[in-house]
Amino acid sequence: MTVYSKTNTLLQASNIGLGYDDKIILRDINFCIKDIVRPGMQQGQVISLIGRSGIGKTQLFKILSGLQKPTTGTVAINGDQTVKAGDMGVIFQNYYLFEWRTVYQSLLMAAKKNPQLKGKEKAMVDHYAGEFQLTSELKKYPQQLSGGQRQRASIIQQLLKGSSFLLLDEPFSGLDVCVLDKVTDLLLQVSLSDELKTLIIVSHDISTSVAISDTVLILGNEAGKEGATIKKEIDLVERDLAWKKDIKKEKTFIETVAEIKACL
Ligand SMILES: Nc1ncnc2c1ncn2[C@@H]1O[C@H](COP(=O)(O)OP(=O)(O)OP(=O)(O)O)[C@@H](O)[C@H]1O
Ligand SMILES: [Mg+2]
Repeated sequence: MTVYSKTNTLLQASNIGLGYDDKIILRDINFCIKDIVRPGMQQGQVISLIGRSGIGKTQLFKILSGLQKPTTGTVAINGDQTVKAGDMGVIFQNYYLFEWRTVYQSLLMAAKKNPQLKGKEKAMVDHYAGEFQLTSELKKYPQQLSGGQRQRASIIQQLLKGSSFLLLDEPFSGLDVCVLDKVTDLLLQVSLSDELKTLIIVSHDISTSVAISDTVLILGNEAGKEGATIKKEIDLVERDLAWKKDIKKEKTFIETVAEIKACL
């Protein structure tokens, strides 16, 4: 069993609720993300947010990132600070890119927003483009890219900005198996790049997402109540299922994925 402890609170979601007209989408959402500390190791956090289509995952992302005001409740990051738009890097389901800029221009602009990359912006754009197999697409405009290429460009764009929090809405859809493995590896690397780095991943590919996570949050409905809430939280570190290579083949991992599916 790996030695670890959970220390400072990085994100606190309290009593979040969201309604449109008379329809309740989200209710009573409470969870807390803490800094996971492993002796002698730089360790970020990776959380899988799982739920059925239409349950409210994208809406919850918008609230967590400060892009949408909830009907009730608050999101606090880094202590007591209320989250505001721009605090988090968000990779949306529809892969937002600037249509009038080439991929290279968009990526360079993102890199220039990150003070840690000062002086090496261009080198980092080239580095990530190479890692994500996008080098030959850099001069293109977004409308000239395939769906999977847009998605990778959009992931790089947010990685370059360097926010501590990265929210990824369906980062694995539309990727072929080779690129999928590469992107998964890169996300893991990103999570290890900084102690405070926190990735929240929404994915219908439960197995891939859970395999790189330390925590699973399940968003779902409870009998007799309108609106979705966090039905279950699974601590994968406690189950000794976090930070392991080839975890997908382990029996306890397969059982955990089945448990998650049964909860949806
Ligand atoms: N502006 C809006 N007005 C009214 N209802 C909305 C609005 N935006 C979203 N909804 C509703 O909120 C619910 C949750 O939508 P959301 O996009 O968060 O689902 P999701 O879990 O991300 O689904 P998927 O997995 O298909 O992406 C849906 O029922 C949707 O119809
Ligand atoms: Mg969605």
